[in-house]
Amino acid sequence: MNPPSSDSASTGHELGWTPIAEEAVRAASVLHPKANTLPRPDRRRVMTVANQKGGVGKTTSTVNLAAALAVHGLKTLVIDLDPQGNASTALDVEHRSGTPSIYEVLIGEVSLAEAAAVSEQSPNLFCVPATIDLAGAEIELVSMVSRESRLKEALSSEVLDEIGVDYVFIDCPPSLGLLTVNAMVAAQEVLIPIQCEYYALEGLGQLLSNIELVQKHLNPDLEVSTILLTMYDGRTKLADQVTQEVRNHFGDTVLKTVIPRSVKVSEAPGYGQTVLAYDPGSRGAMSYIDAAKELANRGTVNGKKEGTL
Ligand SMILES: Nc1ncnc2c1ncn2[C@@H]1O[C@H](COP(=O)(O)OP(=O)(O)O)[C@@H](O)[C@H]1O
Ligand SMILES: [Mg+2]
Repeated sequence: MNPPSSDSASTGHELGWTPIAEEAVRAASVLHPKANTLPRPDRRRVMTVANQKGGVGKTTSTVNLAAALAVHGLKTLVIDLDPQGNASTALDVEHRSGTPSIYEVLIGEVSLAEAAAVSEQSPNLFCVPATIDLAGAEIELVSMVSRESRLKEALSSEVLDEIGVDYVFIDCPPSLGLLTVNAMVAAQEVLIPIQCEYYALEGLGQLLSNIELVQKHLNPDLEVSTILLTMYDGRTKLADQVTQEVRNHFGDTVLKTVIPRSVKVSEAPGYGQTVLAYDPGSRGAMSYIDAAKELANRGTVNGKKEGTL
C-alpha cells in the first residue's frame, strides 16, 4: 500500500494499515504540518499558565502547547517562572544556578535577550530558563520598585519585536505570590489547566478572586481566556463528571480538546523533550497539537471573547 498522506490518518484503520503505520502517519503530520495551517495572531499573545495547585499540568501544557505552535511556524517564547525549572528541563535548556535566567532578568541584571535560549526542539521555540536562584525572588522582589510589573517591563523589550515572537507562555509556580502576580500583570490572557480529578475545582475560587484583584488594580486587560482539561482518564466516571462540571461552569472558555492521561506525556521531560519530540504519533502529542490549533484559531475578538470571565 502507498505510504499514507497525513490527511488520511483517520481512515488508516479502515484501509487495513497496521497500528504502527497509522502511528507513523500521525507522527509525520505532527512533525511536518502543512505550512501556515495556524493563523498568526494580530498582536503578540502573552498567556500566563496559572493554577496555584501543583501537579495539575501547568508545565506540561506550557511546553507542549508552545512546541505545537512552534512546529506550525509560530515563534513562541516560554518564560519559566517556577524555581523548580521544570519547563527548562522539558525544553532541554541549561538552568544550573548561575546561568542567566528569569531571576537575573527580574532583578535587572541581564536583559531578556541575554537570558533567552533557543530550544533544540524547534528554531521557533525560545525559553528563558529558571534556576533555583528564583526561589529567593519572591522575597527579594518585595522591596523593589515596581515589584509587580518587572516581568511586564522585561517583556516590553524590543527584541521580541525583532524576533517576531507571536506567543509568550509564562509557566507559573504553584502559588499566588509575587511571581504569579508578575505573570498576571505581564499577560493579556490566563490559561488555567484543570486536572480531571475529584478536587479539581478546589482552590479555583481563590485563583479567580486573585485574578479579579489584578484586573482591578494592576492589569484591567487581563482575561481568563482558556481553560484546558488535563490528565483525563476515560476509564473513570469521575473524569466525565469533572469535565461536565467544568464545562457547565465555564462554558466556551474551556477548550473542546481534552488532554488524556498518558504515560508518554509524563516520560518525555525525563528525556529533555516535549511529547511532540519524544513520541510525535502518540495520543498525548496529538491532543496537544489539537489544543494548540484551537487556541490559535479561536484567538480573541476585540480583545474579549464571548463567554470569557
Ligand atoms: N496528560 C498527562 N498524562 C500523564 N501524566 C501527566 C500528564 N500531564 C502531566 N503529567 C505529569 O503530572 C505531573 C505534574 O504535571 P506538571 O505539568 O508538572 O504540573 P504543574 O506544572 O501544574 O505542577 C508531572 O509528573 C507530569 O509529567
Ligand atoms: Mg510546574
